[in-house]
Amino acid sequence: MWSGPTEVAEAVARLRAGGLVAFPTETVYGLGADALNAAAVRRVFDVKGRPSTNPLIVHVTGPEMARTVAAEWPREAEQLAAAFWPGPLTLVLPRRRVVPDEVTGGGSTVAVRCPDHRLTLDLLEAFGGPLVGPSANPSGRISPTTAAHVREAFTPEQVYVLDGGPCTGGIESTVVKLGDPVRVLREGLITPEAIASVLGRMPERGSSSATHTLESPGQLASHYAPVTSTLLVDVSEVASRLAEVPRGVVLSHRPVDVSPPHRLLPMPTDARAYASALYAAMREADRLGADCILIVRPEAAGTPEERSVWNAVVDRLTRAATPGS
Ligand code: TXA
Ligand code: MG
Repeated sequence: MWSGPTEVAEAVARLRAGGLVAFPTETVYGLGADALNAAAVRRVFDVKGRPSTNPLIVHVTGPEMARTVAAEWPREAEQLAAAFWPGPLTLVLPRRRVVPDEVTGGGSTVAVRCPDHRLTLDLLEAFGGPLVGPSANPSGRISPTTAAHVREAFTPEQVYVLDGGPCTGGIESTVVKLGDPVRVLREGLITPEAIASVLGRMPERGSSSATHTLESPGQLASHYAPVTSTLLVDVSEVASRLAEVPRGVVLSHRPVDVSPPHRLLPMPTDARAYASALYAAMREADRLGADCILIVRPEAAGTPEERSVWNAVVDRLTRAATPGS
């Protein structure tokens, strides 16, 4: 059942006491804490098991609150916020000193975003200040898209959970670093094409180069990963891969023959619908306790905009399938 004003009031009390509150957004659930309380932020790292060098996104009600943590608010930030906030776009800007080092990983920048979910906007307004919010999952694992996913990972003592229903977007926000050039550090549902239509120039796509990893330390190769060993395959490889294991699970957006004891979890053929369904499907695949998960690699097809959404999806699939998770 959706949380209401009573739960929001309880959440605010927990946050004021330095506690942790999971909140819904349009992308995935976030693990919230008072962004200006260093001890509360350290608790977020503790319960997630997150490396302290990986900085957190600060959630705000809009540009006004963003400027309390960002030292600069250039015209391009104003333009992007006007176009996409509330929404799945995170802006990386020079930080103010008031932001604890714990939030920024000790770096000189801070990441800000205004989430598009009524319940969480109510929470931010009632709390009256910025909240950190990494995805509410143990570090390296699949991001939660329902309140139940969060409750599976944390005890009620550790984390108070606000339930705002399933997340519609399904993958984490696009992270953009402003400056020259503007760079996409993490792909998401706000595409480079959409950003270019506002700024009048195409942002650079982040690569998996060493500099990129340093710039957005969260972009470790292995991430968003199921426990079951996971492979990204072509549709033509499915039969031979399944022949190698007693029981496999296949996630496919294309027709493919899968017979018992193997299982097929059909995926949507539309890029945004695929993104929305992805993490819940990976969790279901994991729950089936098979010997392996095979994910049929989507080909980036369609309009440039659709191709960019597929690229964001394939980015998450590649991380889910990286060995050594
Ligand atoms: O959709 C989302 O962004 C979700 C919801 C809850 O808002 N949050 C989320 O947070 O995905 P997290 O902590 O799982 O991912 C934050 C990403 C990481 O890749 C991190 O490295 C990057 O943002 N990041 C945070 N601060 C940064 C900074 N100052 N400079 C560069 N990258 C930063
Ligand atoms: Mg995360």
